[in-house]
Amino acid sequence: MYDYLLYGKDNYPVDRALGDAVMREARQARPSALANRAFMHRAIRYLAEEAGIRQFLDIGTGIPTEPNLHQVAQDVAPECRVVYVDNDPLVLAHARALMASTQQGRTAFISADMRDPESILADPALRDTLDLSRPVALSAIAVLHFVSDLTAARKILATLTDALAPGSHLVVSHATHDIDPKRASAAASVYQKSNATGWVTTRTHAEIATLFDGCELVPPGVVRVDAWRPDGLVEVGCKGRAWVYGGVGRLKGAAA
Ligand SMILES: C[S@@+](CC[C@H](N)C(=O)[O-])C[C@H]1O[C@@H](n2cnc3c(N)ncnc32)[C@H](O)[C@@H]1O
Repeated sequence: MYDYLLYGKDNYPVDRALGDAVMREARQARPSALANRAFMHRAIRYLAEEAGIRQFLDIGTGIPTEPNLHQVAQDVAPECRVVYVDNDPLVLAHARALMASTQQGRTAFISADMRDPESILADPALRDTLDLSRPVALSAIAVLHFVSDLTAARKILATLTDALAPGSHLVVSHATHDIDPKRASAAASVYQKSNATGWVTTRTHAEIATLFDGCELVPPGVVRVDAWRPDGLVEVGCKGRAWVYGGVGRLKGAAA
């Protein structure tokens, strides 16, 4: 359904029907998805270009949509290494497209559920691809709203970030109902009623900001994704319409 909202080609009638039903309740769903994807591009570019990050762990990757995270990072530095994680078998089926790394870099895909973060950390593909003694950017982009309990979502992040070295960063984006609670709730209930997808829990700015506890936020902090370091290009048509907050933080205590 996210692929349909992004005008992608890898979606099915059931995705389109559900996407249309969500958009009937909240037409901001599509600009939110587009602005979210553009946020991912700008945040990853920032991390590779300005923060000097060369290793990425991406939780809840989604179906490949070019440019994918590794393509953004490797465009800045071809040696970047990326581990993707998703629990959807359909994403696994498309994983080959996520493996098209530069020769200097490397990518891997782990089929795992983020609600079991220990299994991600224990996966040999993670250690084969990333050197956890060096900084990593952990990204959880538009995925934590599939975890209904905020404490559980925070625990997932804490378990993963605890394994990361000084200088590591966190990128999160998350759907919100702050802007129009009634319509956001109607749109979320379309997911709730569907068997085809997970339960969506939208949250407030204050709740989403707690996901960055233990981080020093990179300016401008946690903001609507279209307002995070806009580059004047990709957010055309989405400006001021994203019902998603996002931000980038640097793990505190990081020495490098
Ligand atoms: C809305 S897409 C976001 C894709 C990409 N991160 C982006 O923002 O462009 C959410 C993805 O999270 C994945 N996902 C949802 N729950 C998950 C879980 N418990 N473990 C791993 N992946 C999950 C879904 O399969 C889907 O591919």
